[in-house]
Amino acid sequence: MTGEEFAQVSEAQIAAHWREEGYVNPPAPFIAQANAGDPAIFERFREENFPECFKEYADLLTWERYWHTTLDTSNPPFWKWFVGGRLNASYNCVDRHLAKYRNKAAFIWVPEPESDRAEVVTYQDLYVRVNEFAALLRDFCGVKEGDRVTFHLPMVPELPISMLACARLGVIHSEVFGGFSGAACGDRIADSESHVLVTMDGYYRNGDLLDHKVKADEALATAEKRGGVVDKVLVWRRRPGSYSSQTPMVAGRDFFVDELLPDYRGRVVEPVSMPAEAPLFLMYTSGTTAQPKGCQHSTGGYLAYVAGTSKYYQDIHPEDTYWCFADIGWITGHSYIVYGPLALAATSVIYEGVPTYPDAGRPWRIAERLGVNIFHTAPTTIRMLRKLGPDEPRKYNHHFKHMTTVGEPIEPDVWRWYHDVVGKGEAVIVDTWWQTENGGFLGSTLPALLPMKPGSCGPGVLGIYPVIHDEEGSVIPAGSGTAGNICIRNPWPGIFQTIWGSPERYVQIYYEKYCKDRSSKDWRDWPYFAGDGALHAADGYFRILGRVDDVINVAGHRLGTKELESACITVDEVAEAAAVPVMDEMRGRAVEIYIALKPGVAPGKQVEDKVAGAIERLIGKIARPKNVWIVPDMPKTRSGKIMRRVIAGISNFTGTGDITTLANPEVVETIRHHVQAEKVERGELPRELSEQEMEEIKAFGHAE
Ligand code: WTA
Repeated sequence: MTGEEFAQVSEAQIAAHWREEGYVNPPAPFIAQANAGDPAIFERFREENFPECFKEYADLLTWERYWHTTLDTSNPPFWKWFVGGRLNASYNCVDRHLAKYRNKAAFIWVPEPESDRAEVVTYQDLYVRVNEFAALLRDFCGVKEGDRVTFHLPMVPELPISMLACARLGVIHSEVFGGFSGAACGDRIADSESHVLVTMDGYYRNGDLLDHKVKADEALATAEKRGGVVDKVLVWRRRPGSYSSQTPMVAGRDFFVDELLPDYRGRVVEPVSMPAEAPLFLMYTSGTTAQPKGCQHSTGGYLAYVAGTSKYYQDIHPEDTYWCFADIGWITGHSYIVYGPLALAATSVIYEGVPTYPDAGRPWRIAERLGVNIFHTAPTTIRMLRKLGPDEPRKYNHHFKHMTTVGEPIEPDVWRWYHDVVGKGEAVIVDTWWQTENGGFLGSTLPALLPMKPGSCGPGVLGIYPVIHDEEGSVIPAGSGTAGNICIRNPWPGIFQTIWGSPERYVQIYYEKYCKDRSSKDWRDWPYFAGDGALHAADGYFRILGRVDDVINVAGHRLGTKELESACITVDEVAEAAAVPVMDEMRGRAVEIYIALKPGVAPGKQVEDKVAGAIERLIGKIARPKNVWIVPDMPKTRSGKIMRRVIAGISNFTGTGDITTLANPEVVETIRHHVQAEKVERGELPRELSEQEMEEIKAFGHAE
């Protein structure tokens, strides 16, 4: 095959032959108590019953006014769900539970320092705190329906309190993951045109009290450069009354929330009645361009979808103690720590810190102490806990009925440790595949009704009808052993409404590829392109291979190669940069950076450090590259495009493919020799990759 031919081979045409894992059945005690225990539910959600089937999810909510149209498809692909309906998300997550559950814990917050007591936030307490903060936002900051407010908050109860306060006012919240840099937060402030930033002075991470307020000043400086205007910064204090940051407060701009709140004591703010279609929040995520996309989620459709999937897939009952060990700064936390569980009156655990602080037994001590019976986390956390404490779970008396994995493909042997050791063989596991854009799960097993298959997420969830297309748009049938692009044939209530400020990109990125008729008003003509490669087994289960675009999934965090590369070229010495994924035992994938220097610049460790530093400063610590390689030139096509797949092959020792049609094929061997020799010397030789991982590396960058 020539290089050009190789470049045109889509992942869809790559045959994959790895071994199918055997089934594992859900335990009988789980089945006996499950919310979805009757197979009739599959009938109710059959395609013939679409879209009305989703009434079942919407009926889990309290509507101020019932809707008249379940799904309006008149302006595809801008779907409208539950049109005519009105509701308030804060009311649904808080007020309506007071009658029955006033004194039940809504949240149990576990601070990282183990000597600090857990803080219980009852539904009553939550109600009071949400109302007071809503009053402050409205009366002190002057925000109103439809305005955006950006948060840069860590894992503290003040984060869901701030979210629910905004929801109460019909204000759109936009939380930026606390671990992101100030600059990344600033970009998102400017893009969403928020005039208020809500942050915290500091928080604990790995034993240190980090200065977080310093990022607010960086964020505002970045936002201003992009034309953003922030007039108020509200600073929650990790320890009210004492300031944990070295950064000065700016008079007239920065305010301590704990000093303002007494003025709002006992204030009650009527929940604002919002149309089902009103945006509830923005969640920024990485894609194929340097600018992160603000995914806009709706109030009615989103809340119905996360309530329904929390009930049937997370199997949450009000008496459960549910712990989703993700960050609320990501979609998983929004949907499955806050909105879904609270809509069902659950008790949701929030942990401030890292899983292994002070040791790898911490999560199991928390679970034992709080009586957690539903546990939810990502493969990267499971890998880390296994590596540092393979026998730790056996030392604790925790018992899970249900466990979730989310965010990355899970290796079958990691799955088995999760099942056998963490879950003690007592828990059912759901592997949930979905994305920031989706609001809630897309692929998973219904826990009491379908067997588990390690490494596969399962079939489409209730009311989701996936399909695998090849590059030409033909359907790849189940059981063919050929991978392709997974798409969802139908709209669903949790799908995001648009990219904030860029409706044309929304259409182009997610729908254009497989839309056969742009003028069609029939949803069947508008499959949703997820950007993941997948394999459809004969039993209907999907195995997700990973991204087909140039997104790198580091420890479950999506990083765009273009974002990484633009951070690199802010370094003066750098002429060109390319980011590729490299297999990493703990994080799943890590980032490696290749840079070419400007003429006359001498290579050296100093430049490498500058590049790593720029990424950390502009994006955040999570994006810090594993290696920065300085190369004489980038491998390029004759039209000057950097061939990322070639360097990805070098980084992963998987071969470079055919390179004869490159403009500069000779450089490939120079780079390969330099990088691989150095890796061998550092002991960074990867383990033997599975076929699936080989396919992933080969497919990387194909969508470019
Ligand atoms: C990947 C996280 C395999 C996938 C909820 C997707 C998964 C991206 C799984 C979205 C899973 C998520 N198995 N891969 N169970 N779940 N992914 O937007 O590539 O942070 O496109 O949403 O993570 O990441 P995001």
